[in-house]
Parts: sequence; structure tokens; C-alpha cells
Amino acid sequence: MTVVDTVILGDAYDVLKSFPQETVNLIITSPPYYRQRDYGGIGIGNEETKEAYLENLLKIFGECVRVLKNDGSIVFNLGDKYINGSLALIPYRFAIMAMERFNVLLVNNITWVKKNPTPRQYKRRLTPSTEPFFHFVKSDKYYFDLDSFMEDKKPSFNGKRRNPGERYFKLIENSDLSPEEKELAKKELSIAIEEVRLGLIRDFRMKIRGIHAEPFGGQEGGRLYHLRRKGFTIIKMRGEPIKRDVIESNVETIKGRKHSAIYPKKLISELIKLLSREGDIVLDPFAGSGTTLIAAYELKRHYIGIEINPEYYRYILERLEDARRKIQNERKGLYEHM
Ligand SMILES: C[S@@+](CC[C@H](N)C(=O)[O-])C[C@H]1O[C@@H](n2cnc3c(N)ncnc32)[C@H](O)[C@@H]1O
Repeated sequence: MTVVDTVILGDAYDVLKSFPQETVNLIITSPPYYRQRDYGGIGIGNEETKEAYLENLLKIFGECVRVLKNDGSIVFNLGDKYINGSLALIPYRFAIMAMERFNVLLVNNITWVKKNPTPRQYKRRLTPSTEPFFHFVKSDKYYFDLDSFMEDKKPSFNGKRRNPGERYFKLIENSDLSPEEKELAKKELSIAIEEVRLGLIRDFRMKIRGIHAEPFGGQEGGRLYHLRRKGFTIIKMRGEPIKRDVIESNVETIKGRKHSAIYPKKLISELIKLLSREGDIVLDPFAGSGTTLIAAYELKRHYIGIEINPEYYRYILERLEDARRKIQNERKGLYEHM
């Protein structure tokens, strides 16, 4: 039986070997990148060649595949490396080898866009500010809860955005539309704003003659016709927003942090909500500072962490204890207000 809500000090490969197969629902992890940092001279990442690094990583990935349930997911986040002035494309080499060697499908290559990347003084190259998160599965029956993904980004304008589209009033006023056209434009704009407020439409865009570019491919009765004849057109958006394979977030900074490569908890929480249910088991075989485990705990999932460095292992336990205390205090506060 697999013990859950625990952190294990040890080597990911050795520890995973002792796990029974098909027991874990979700694995989210960020292994050490190739020759990027020294995590105390232990574990993987400092191999002589990238080939040796990839072999060690794939060995552990193979164990992840073995312990994963058939409807589970594995998310591996990797960063790249310049070798002799050229990007080595290590994350992509890993993803290709993983697919060739194991029976896995690659569902998405999710791009993490770092809104505040580490500033670099490069004179002849741009500052890298993205990293891939590869989402692998064992079968097309994987659990996937798209509705809960980026819930807070679903535009719900009821009260949240007080003046959707108000700026268009000023544009109409400053346009060279006739007084009658301006009158009609303002009337239809007010209706669209009300529809957004009532949740009847998700959003809208307005195009005003002489101010906005004309739409392409206009036809009789279409947007171009409206723009030319009426002086404006309103494009209403209904239905769900597109959920893209891009997650933008800041690089995590933790006061007095004891670990140098922490990924953002917000991003991990999104993936946990997307790929697991409450009560599921979430595993991070390269736990680092324990971000995955804390996110899993806060979202009512069971967690298992493996970390080879005793210093980080102790830090994870501290962070988990803080998270536990925070949640208990929040619950206590809630009862006191009841
Ligand atoms: C990039 S860090 C993970 C950071 C983590 N995602 C976070 O947000 O804090 C990788 C971690 O893997 C650990 N590690 C390296 N080799 C390992 C191995 N063979 N088994 C277990 N942990 C290992 C390192 O000590 C390091 O803490």
C-alpha cells in the first residue's frame, strides 16, 4: 500500500521502485535542469553529458509511468541550456525520447510565460522567458476537468468589471459620425454593456468608422457593411473563453527562501484542478521546496513528495506545517464568525 500525505527523503528512482504500480493519479514535477544549479552535489543534473542526464531522467520518468493510474497524468517541467553558444533543446529531446521509449501520449506542451524573467545583460540574444510543461498520459481516457481550469479568469462581469466598453462613448463622441449615427451608436453600445452586465454575452468589441480598421472579407449585411452604412459595428462574444495552452505568471519569490528553483504555486494549482479530483493522490518525485505538495494539500488532494537533499526535505516539512497551520487558522476564524 502507498502511504500518502508524506514526504520521503531519498533518491526518486529508488523510492519509486518500491511503489506498487498504477496507484498515483497525478505527477507534477520539475526535475533539476541540466547543469543549471548545484543542489548540494547530489541527485541528477550535473552529469558530464546531456545524454547521461537524459538517460537518468528517463529512468525516473519510466518509474513515474509505472506508478501512474491508467486515467492519470504526468506533467514534467524542464528548462533549456545554452551549450557552446547554442540552445541544446533539452526539454524537447526529453519529450521525444519519453514518447519513443514509453507508452505515453503527449496531450499538450503548455508554455509557462514568466512575466518577470530574471534580467540578463545579453547583447546578442533575447532573454528567455518561457518554459515548457509537458502533459503526458497513458491512455486517451485521462481525467480532465476543463471547467475548473483558470476559473478565476472566466469573465464574469456581474459587478466585477464596472464599466465594460465605456471607453467607446468617448470614441463615438470624437468620431466624425453624423449626429444621428452617434445617437444610434450610443444606444446600441448601452444595450451591449447591459447585456454583458446581465451575463447574456461574455464580452464585445466595437468598431467605429474612421477610428478602427475595417474588418476583412465584408459581405452584404456583414460587419463591413454595418461599419460603412451605420458608422459602427458591434461584435458580441458568446460562449466560453478559449482555454489556451499558455499560463502566464510571475516567477515565485518567497521571503528568506531556502531553495533556488521554486515554480509558481498558482500555476501548479491550475494544473492540479485541471488534472485531478479532490481526494486524489498527487506525487512530486523532485519535490524541492514542496510547492506541488502544498498546492495539493490546499486543494484537498493527498500528496507524496520525494526529495534527495536533507536540507530541502526539512524545508518542505516546515512549509507544509505552515500551510497546515494557515488552513487551520482560516477554519477557526470561519467558525468564530458563524
Ligand atoms: C528544480 S528543483 C524542484 C523545485 C520545486 N518544483 C519547487 O517548486 O520547489 C529539483 C529538486 O530535485 C531534487 N533532486 C535532484 N535529484 C533527485 C533525485 N534523484 N531524487 C529526488 N530528488 C532529487 C533537488 O535536490 C531539487 O531540490
